[in-house]
Amino acid sequence: MIDLLITNATLPDGRTGMDIACASGLVAEIAPAIKGEARKTIDARGYLVSPPFIDSHFHMDATLSLGIPRLNMSGTLLEGIGLWGELKPLLTHEAVIERALRYCDLAVSKGMGAIRTHVDVCDDRLLCVEALLEVKKKIAPYIDLQIVAFPQDGFYRSRTARQNLIRALDLGVDVVGGIPHFERTMADGAASLKELCEIAEKRGLLVDIHCDETDDPLSRHVETLACETQRLGLHGRVVGSHLTSMHSMDNYYVSKLIPLMVESQLHATPNPLINITIQGRHDTYPRRRGLTRIPELRSAGLNVSFGHDCVMDPWYSLGQADMLEVASMGIHAVPMTSREAMRWTFDAVTVNPAKAMHLEGYGLAKGCKANFVILQAKDPIEAIRLKANRLTVVRSGKIIAESDEQFSKLQIAGRPKTVNGADYAPKNLG
Ligand code: FE2
Repeated sequence: MIDLLITNATLPDGRTGMDIACASGLVAEIAPAIKGEARKTIDARGYLVSPPFIDSHFHMDATLSLGIPRLNMSGTLLEGIGLWGELKPLLTHEAVIERALRYCDLAVSKGMGAIRTHVDVCDDRLLCVEALLEVKKKIAPYIDLQIVAFPQDGFYRSRTARQNLIRALDLGVDVVGGIPHFERTMADGAASLKELCEIAEKRGLLVDIHCDETDDPLSRHVETLACETQRLGLHGRVVGSHLTSMHSMDNYYVSKLIPLMVESQLHATPNPLINITIQGRHDTYPRRRGLTRIPELRSAGLNVSFGHDCVMDPWYSLGQADMLEVASMGIHAVPMTSREAMRWTFDAVTVNPAKAMHLEGYGLAKGCKANFVILQAKDPIEAIRLKANRLTVVRSGKIIAESDEQFSKLQIAGRPKTVNGADYAPKNLG
């Protein structure tokens, strides 16, 4: 018996007129015109059905705290860090959980299926760690949450960060984090990576480092991260987040660096919304964009995924848990507007982050978890252009969020018309 049957779907790979049968929480079959009785059937009407969006870099302990205790008036990274320092002593277990759950509701409505969040471990109370571990359990029916132990104030620079990070891992935090460019010296940054990778190797954990989030071309910690990955046999288990210094590095050095990253099977996670707004702040003109070298990393064969990083917190006042907005910013900020590259950005917020996070059973194929979203768009590029309405969000074969199709009613000079953005798209773009 089919629990849920989706008919007439377009898939991200371009197949049209496909049916998706779900049974026992899994995808049982994907084929045209599936026969069999279904408990519930949804006609996708040719719209795009995608596996859920995945955010591989976020800060859930800070999200939706905008204005507490005050606003970041300059919008800079430095004021944001200062503001987070003011907010931390005011945090309560209940308030962190309430904001995180509110964010997860928003994320589900936007078709998000998994989030990797960093959690600051530099507060000796580990209040945010305990709160997010509780949130992880509460939202498991809707979103897979991976938590990274993140020493925001520096693994060595903050007096108790080292012991707190270990305590957080003992409590059940999933991934080892770090911030080498924020340590006092380059040597300390390199040493922190060595020790953090050793901790991960001993415990069999994944690694995700805020790495070289600076415009300084001499911030080369990614080199150490790649070497430590190789030394400890952590190939494919390590993510370099941000990597913005690569934007400003010398081309000759990068020609040596990228092959090393490839050998180590590093994953790269730029955060387009935040990198474009935070980097280049010390520049006059020309002003650097600060995004890492996404086309070059891609063409070398590295797995690149996009993160949202922040939503309405001390660092960033905007955002709405919409990974299509993140993909759109990536296209503009790099820029990468070839058809192939624009299509690729859809992968950067779906299959690529799933790979970086080692998610099991992700994808639209027989035997995968029956998790997907029906978008009011005909193809991935149109979905990005429109930030397409999420019509139906399905998790384990059950509907967990729905919205009506969105249209505007025009009344121009006696020409009443009902339209949505898709109506303006030329057909057969290929
Ligand atoms: Fe971050």
